[in-house]
Amino acid sequence: MLFDLRPKESRRELFDREEEYQELKRLVDSGLWVAVVGKRMTGKTSLLKTFANENRGIYVNLLGARSIGDLVRKLAAESGFKLDEVGLDLKFIQVKWSRVLEDIFSHVKDKVVALDEVQEVSSYYFLKVLKSVWDKYRGIKIVFSGSYVGILRRLLEPKPASPLYGRKPAKLVLKPFSREVSKKFLESGFRESCRVRVRNEEIEEAVERLNGYVGWLTYYGNFRCIRRLSHDEALKETLSEGSKIILEELNNFLKGRRRELYVKTLRTVSNGARWSEVKKTLNANSKVVKIVLETLCSAMIVEEKEGYYWVEDPIIKEAIRRIK
Ligand SMILES: Nc1ncnc2c1ncn2[C@@H]1O[C@H](COP(=O)(O)OP(=O)(O)OP(=O)(O)O)[C@@H](O)[C@H]1O
Ligand SMILES: [Mg+2]
Repeated sequence: MLFDLRPKESRRELFDREEEYQELKRLVDSGLWVAVVGKRMTGKTSLLKTFANENRGIYVNLLGARSIGDLVRKLAAESGFKLDEVGLDLKFIQVKWSRVLEDIFSHVKDKVVALDEVQEVSSYYFLKVLKSVWDKYRGIKIVFSGSYVGILRRLLEPKPASPLYGRKPAKLVLKPFSREVSKKFLESGFRESCRVRVRNEEIEEAVERLNGYVGWLTYYGNFRCIRRLSHDEALKETLSEGSKIILEELNNFLKGRRRELYVKTLRTVSNGARWSEVKKTLNANSKVVKIVLETLCSAMIVEEKEGYYWVEDPIIKEAIRRIK
């Protein structure tokens, strides 16, 4: 069902990602490791799960994995690798974890391994293990996804000192749906699962307000069909629920950063602003302004073109309105 809030798991359920699916297949078949990147709620997990399912692969969600040990346990569980838990205690040193991890990779070396939310295990050891996996088991096919800020960036733009330097995965970008595709998505969803009468103007407004993010469109459809909310309520709830999710993520992102500077910048660029306006508002030197804006852009929160900055995702805008 299109308006099911869980990530989709098969091509039958996946709406309009055939081109991206084929491209992913082509890249993986040609022996490359691939990182699927995209903003929040563009359908990365759905594409990864579907790809793993349809290619006899293993999907591993690393959410909550805080150490190599967690990664080992999750990977072992998903791949049916029997861990000898005896001795695998907390005192187990990193090097040994790496060895167990290599054993697991050798066990799955003919399969596609899809690692989602990789930013959760952002340790240097993880990159080192990946390097040795790459060197030893060339045939192993790995697809990564997650938020760009953490380890994905280090995977995709490795510095010369990084173990993955020269072994950069290919990048597949998932873009938000176009207006037409968003409209078709909502129409198909309503046709499929809804007895509620939905007017064309309502669909148009939802498309206009939710801007092609399939996850938010799914929320809207779900609120209307399953929870039977009116159009206005469903839009309001989508913005409200969505901005809660994004707000939490923004707060995480701001931890350890100069919060006040970032919040000011987000408020300034939310509806579009030039570099000079940001500099004036922040009252900081150019170097600081540059770092803040670049960080926000590479985290895919803010867009930039020719010195003009703005926020595209309507839910991120709403979250910025609510941030304290
Ligand atoms: N191609 C698609 N067709 C139908 N529904 C989709 C598609 N892609 C995603 N969805 C729906 O959109 C929502 C978000 O999808 P998903 O979790 O795959 O996105 P994501 O990019 O991984 O999100 P996040 O940024 O939170 O990790 C889910 O409800 C999922 O069912
Ligand atoms: Mg996801």
